Amino acid sequence: MIRSMKKIVSIIVSFAAVAQLASCTNDDPKKPGFEYMPNMYRSPSYETYSSNPNFADSMTARQPVNGTIARGDMIYNDYDRLPYTYPNTPEGYEAAGTGLRNPLVKDDNSLAEGKVLYTNFCGHCHGATGMGDGAVTKFNGPIPPAYNSDLLKNLPEGKMYHSITWGKNMMGSHASQVTPTQRWKIIMYVQTLQNPAGQTASATPADSTKNAGSTTKM
Ligand code: HEC
Repeated sequence: MIRSMKKIVSIIVSFAAVAQLASCTNDDPKKPGFEYMPNMYRSPSYETYSSNPNFADSMTARQPVNGTIARGDMIYNDYDRLPYTYPNTPEGYEAAGTGLRNPLVKDDNSLAEGKVLYTNFCGHCHGATGMGDGAVTKFNGPIPPAYNSDLLKNLPEGKMYHSITWGKNMMGSHASQVTPTQRWKIIMYVQTLQNPAGQTASATPADSTKNAGSTTKM
């Protein structure tokens, strides 16, 4: 019994000795002596953000090919995949005003969704009722004109869409925040603020650029 125990111990010891010797063959003490399938540790391909000698700008992470259309789980409708073709120019703005129409059916659900989206993405500047008195405006933020002002109460939906997509003066582009579908739903809600029921046009200032440029109000 004791002899077989001794045998087992000596076998274990000699295995350990061989294993230790085998692990000492590598010159670099920082690297393990034996790697099973080294490509799993050291990938032969370029890591995403590593430099790359094959490209002039040395970047492994490449830009999508020009004209690529994003696809993902934020996509609700076919036209969400289409690029916006009206250019970010005064002519593009005018053309959107005459040529661009809301492709969604106006119903209560979309309007309710538009109101939630408006509250989340626009209300802090434009104010809960679109009077241009959102919280940001009280802290040196840009002051938008009221939607029911002479300036905006007849603003066509295409121009609204254009301005939300490209931005306008002090208002940045919201294209990355809200999808085309969401923009149109928001617009449905904004239209209810343009001409609130039972209200005639108010005498809010007509020069939105002047308002927007204000940075001194606290
Ligand atoms: C950072 C503040 C800010 C946010 C956020 C913001 N806006 Fe504006 N918005 C402005 C200002 C300022 C103007 C006035 C721009 C001008 O005409 O100089 C403006 C103008 C507009 C106009 C008039 C555009 C035109 O063509 O004259 C519309 C419509 C509008 N915003 C809708 C929205 C909607 C919808 C959202 C949310 C998705 C939004 N805005 C978010 C500040 C903001």
